[in-house]
Amino acid sequence: PRRKPLIAGNWKMNCNHLEALALVQKIAFALPEKYYDKVEVAVLPPFTDIRSVQTLIDGDKLKLVHGAQDLSPHDSGAYTGDVSGAMLAKLGCTYVTVGHSERREIHGEDDALVNKKVRAAVKHGIVPILCVGEPLPVREAGEHVAHTTRQVTAALEKVESQHAQTLVIAYEPVWAIGTGRVASAADAQEVCAAIRQAVSAKYGEAIAAGVRVLYGGSVKAKNVGEIVAESDVDGALVGGASLDADEFAQLCAIA
Ligand code: G3H
Repeated sequence: PRRKPLIAGNWKMNCNHLEALALVQKIAFALPEKYYDKVEVAVLPPFTDIRSVQTLIDGDKLKLVHGAQDLSPHDSGAYTGDVSGAMLAKLGCTYVTVGHSERREIHGEDDALVNKKVRAAVKHGIVPILCVGEPLPVREAGEHVAHTTRQVTAALEKVESQHAQTLVIAYEPVWAIGTGRVASAADAQEVCAAIRQAVSAKYGEAIAAGVRVLYGGSVKAKNVGEIVAESDVDGALVGGASLDADEFAQLCAIA
């Protein structure tokens, strides 16, 4: 059977908790319940919004799920400003993005830290959405597949197969993020297939067949259809377009 597609809205550093409530309500209103049978819809707001979003989703029995954008590799302690996986699990987070290119670039996160965060997430029962992808010079040098699969393998070190099978991996070419420059469906398929191959090499074909591989980078309602039509692309990680309820709902309905 086909993997159930996932559309995850990464809000990045947008929306205070009141705006978050309004946005989730609008998305729920714009996306009729019948669509949730064929697509899983997740919102990933900033930390300060998560409790409010959780309360709204639970109270109104909305069918979408929520998650976070980052977590600490540690469970508790003297880590000023950080938020642990245990705290996120307590807030009902289903997913957490790990290793987003903005974290890698702006906060200097390397593969070793990304690996620790992946392990922290699974330890607390949160599914990591592991983000990988190449910057433009790497793509131009034709090294994008090697670069991306290397990131995947490094992030999954010492991750057991029971956790690998629920994993989500998002291929986000850095040059396509927030630029309006979307990868072609064939480009997305090439790397997403290579990612699945890398998972297969480590965990075997059966587990790799269950892992959902998403594409991210300037996904909109107008281009999501052709991207998710590719056999190894199981949905999308959406930035900018996830802040517009109508656009996001439309995009989910198409996926
Ligand atoms: O996590 C989402 C990606 O960074 C894509 O962002 O849709 O604004 O290009 P974008």
